[in-house]
Amino acid sequence: METITIRDRQFTLSIPEHDILKAVKNVAEQINNDMQNLNPLFICVLNGAFMFASDLMKHISIPCEITFIKLSSYAGLYTTGVVKEVMGLSESVIERNVVVVEDIVDTGITMERILSSLTTQGAKSIKVATFLQKPDALQRPINIDYVAMKIPNDFIVGYGLDYDGYGRNLKEIYTVIND
Ligand code: IMP
Ligand code: MG
Repeated sequence: METITIRDRQFTLSIPEHDILKAVKNVAEQINNDMQNLNPLFICVLNGAFMFASDLMKHISIPCEITFIKLSSYAGLYTTGVVKEVMGLSESVIERNVVVVEDIVDTGITMERILSSLTTQGAKSIKVATFLQKPDALQRPINIDYVAMKIPNDFIVGYGLDYDGYGRNLKEIYTVIND
């Protein structure tokens, strides 16, 4: 069993790189099929989604643009439930078909907030692409169009996701070992 230590916690390897890249490519192919001629604007939610967005975009073959917003809600292992917008959108979404690119949908509070903001700002259509989803943690009735992988309700790090700022650089997903 491959384990690593980040700060005060131990984590064990749970999703290898090969499985991640296969699932991400699969999402890209679905988007290529569904959004031909729609000139999508991808909105990557920083910090967590930077690695997913990067690998996803390498397989997007239709004309598109990408931009970034930055939110934060986690402190350590637990969501605070309070979503802070640290950096807003720099371009208009009016009449645009947008795809929100997220690292993980956990309680869904962050995504609910993003969706309502994009609706208010006049997006023509809104789709959600998330690398991970924890279906058992969902607390909001949101519609997720593309999910690369579904995982149990455990805290994970790697592939853009962090524990107190650390572990985002890992190319595989690791799950916390509860003691
Ligand atoms: P939500 O608002 O509860 O859906 O949480 C969304 C945000 O919390 C995600 O975009 C992540 O940045 C962060 N998050 C949720 N679960 C985890 C986890 O297991 N590890 C690291 N970050 C997480
Ligand atoms: Mg996130």
